[in-house]
Amino acid sequence: MNTVDDDELQSVVAMMTDEEKIDFVSGHGLWRTTAIERLGIPAIVMTDGTYGVRYSTTQIDSGSDPEAALSAFLAVVNRRAEDGGAGMFGDTHPATCFPNGNLLGCSWDTSLAEQLGQALAAECQALGVDLLLGPGINIRRTPLAGRAYEYYSEDPVVSGDLAAGLIRGLQGAGVGASLKHFACNNSEIDRTNMSSDVDERALREIYLAGFERAIAKSDPWTVMSAYNPLNGAQAAESRWLLTDVLREEWGYNGVVISDWHAIKDRPAAVHAGTDLDMPESGPRKARLRAALQAGHLDCEALDRSCRRILSFVRSLVGKRRAVGPVDLDRHHELARRMAAESIVLLKNDTAALPLKDMAGKRLLVVGTGAIQPTIQGSGSATTNPYRVDVPLDEIRALAAEAAIDFMPFAKNGGDLGTQIADAVAKARLADMVLVFANHRTGDEGEGTDRSDISLADGQDALIEALTSTGCRTIVALTMPDAVAMPWIDKVDAVLACFYPGQGGGAALARVLFGKVNPSGKLSTTLPVKIQDIPGFHTYPGENGHHLYSESIFAGYRYYDVRAVKPLFPFGHGLSYTHFVYGDLSVDAEAVVPGSPVRLQFKVGNTGEVFGQEVVQIFVRPIEPGLKRPVRELKAFSKHALAPGETATVNIELLPRDFQYFDTATGRWTLRATAFAIEVAASSRDIRLSRVLPCVPEPTPAPRIKTTSSPAIVFSHPKAEPALKGFIVERLKLGEDEAQKLIDGTRQSFFGFYDALSWSIGESISEGELAVLFDAINEDTSPELR
Ligand code: BGC
Repeated sequence: MNTVDDDELQSVVAMMTDEEKIDFVSGHGLWRTTAIERLGIPAIVMTDGTYGVRYSTTQIDSGSDPEAALSAFLAVVNRRAEDGGAGMFGDTHPATCFPNGNLLGCSWDTSLAEQLGQALAAECQALGVDLLLGPGINIRRTPLAGRAYEYYSEDPVVSGDLAAGLIRGLQGAGVGASLKHFACNNSEIDRTNMSSDVDERALREIYLAGFERAIAKSDPWTVMSAYNPLNGAQAAESRWLLTDVLREEWGYNGVVISDWHAIKDRPAAVHAGTDLDMPESGPRKARLRAALQAGHLDCEALDRSCRRILSFVRSLVGKRRAVGPVDLDRHHELARRMAAESIVLLKNDTAALPLKDMAGKRLLVVGTGAIQPTIQGSGSATTNPYRVDVPLDEIRALAAEAAIDFMPFAKNGGDLGTQIADAVAKARLADMVLVFANHRTGDEGEGTDRSDISLADGQDALIEALTSTGCRTIVALTMPDAVAMPWIDKVDAVLACFYPGQGGGAALARVLFGKVNPSGKLSTTLPVKIQDIPGFHTYPGENGHHLYSESIFAGYRYYDVRAVKPLFPFGHGLSYTHFVYGDLSVDAEAVVPGSPVRLQFKVGNTGEVFGQEVVQIFVRPIEPGLKRPVRELKAFSKHALAPGETATVNIELLPRDFQYFDTATGRWTLRATAFAIEVAASSRDIRLSRVLPCVPEPTPAPRIKTTSSPAIVFSHPKAEPALKGFIVERLKLGEDEAQKLIDGTRQSFFGFYDALSWSIGESISEGELAVLFDAINEDTSPELR
């Protein structure tokens, strides 16, 4: 992308009238930028979403009837998954509904994400879409979050790397991405008003870190700011977020787009660095015009936004390419493969899976999900699938020789007790039972969160009852995020399918029958019960403020620091084969400031079948001197291995991977006695470890004040000599006497000036001491700050 300082951009923007500028930084209708024909500037088209292309024919093709477009938009956004049916999609072009973020996250496969990006780009180009409004990478802070299904993980490394893969695929094929929602839209409760109140370490180390990572690795052409206020300032109006951090610290040079109708104060948003206000809004344009006319607008910021949008529009238009019709069958197959490689085998104690030697076996399938699968969430991301695999058909196709019986199980299918009794009677005649279970639906989606993590009515009782028959019980779960599994010890196998997209049916069947060896691993922790969720006691906030009380201890970091046993830990996922890890070597003797650490190890497949293993690298600080998570994921990779094959894995950890964000100095800082570098199969399954001592960065000097305690003052390396010189000079004393006065303050815990004046009375004023301390603070070299 061009830089905003291009002379040519400057001169085109200089030719725009004020009215044209107002139009240009505002959308045209719901899904376009504004064209300025006089200056040869065309419009570009954008649309949702995060795992499929939602091209609304009523909203994009049928011109701009703003009222009709607005109600069509609200109808989609407010729709709940259980409303189901065609109405869920409005009038949209059929497209491929790929696995949702909640399942793709479990792939831990950046190349799969890149292939998804390429496929989405092809579908966008076939429809004339220049910019796709995704991916979304808000941290899955709570499994209750209504849009958890769109996002990848509770961890910024997984989120950032998968997003970067998708963005590379999309943009490499000429379609722009919009990395969203920046930042801290982690719950849907009162989403445009509830301030996410997050301390700065948690912001830097968790909530902004995934964005920073994805931007560094893939340079998305746009970033979409979030609906919510962040620490009291509307995200779209936060200059700290959108200019100080995003642009000045991270060097981001693309376009910032508002979320739809997220801006409340348009002039403030211009000043903060939101370039494009989406969608078009008469009232917001009027407010911008009024501010401009009254001289209250930051005109340079307005021009800068015009230049950025112009540069972006031109670059996108230059990338348009004529493509033929999309090979939807190929995309369907990709959707199946993505789902199959992401489904997580949570439990398989009795090697119940894969199902084999099915000739003459009796398989009972229970649950409406087998014939009417939930493949995706609801809201603005919904994709109108052009084809949907029916799991029961796919199972039948792969087990033609088995006797398969099916019974639905639904709350509106009659009395649940009777249905459970029927299922139990059938199970007594079967060799194995496969239950399609799902979360309680109805309250989740865009604009609302789930109210609990239970399965839908009667399903826990159904599963319990089936296990009591002695028949092998396998559970396949569909869910936006975690569900509780009170029956977990009694079942033989559990597969987590999350929202698997239109190919989920075939993907599940392939995994069940071992055509695909599962290789997904959890990208979020599954809790035993809702009360175990990080920040549970301050969720969802009150009086307009949602305090992120667990701070940096998001996701597994919380379970680790509190030694809470999860139902299944972050990073967990089983396979039909076995992997062994060994031969860890590290190229450094110590962790030193500014140097990377390279590690090498081997992972081998010692089982009978082909499989893929996700290896996870955690860093565990030892005696870090301040609170840090027990361990944090810093890198991962996925390896395909034939039986008997061993791969050599090389991973580089960067200086940042060992640092924490020091809020006193505003810098990433290295401080600990040592670090353990851990090679793991999950966050609770560490296979190899190496401890390296740490050479810390110099301890930052504190900023000292007259009210600082003597201990703090003397911890500043320049304070004592400077004070001594000052006292000698000012009170005309010898060095020894001055030293005595200084030493006399050492035992005090109260403010330094008060401690000193105990011996010297008021012969030196507090103001004089303040001037001296300011000079010491100023004179501190940046390394010591
Ligand atoms: C959502 C965005 C989406 C936009 C356009 C908003 O309600 O939060 O994710 O891109 O609508 O549909």
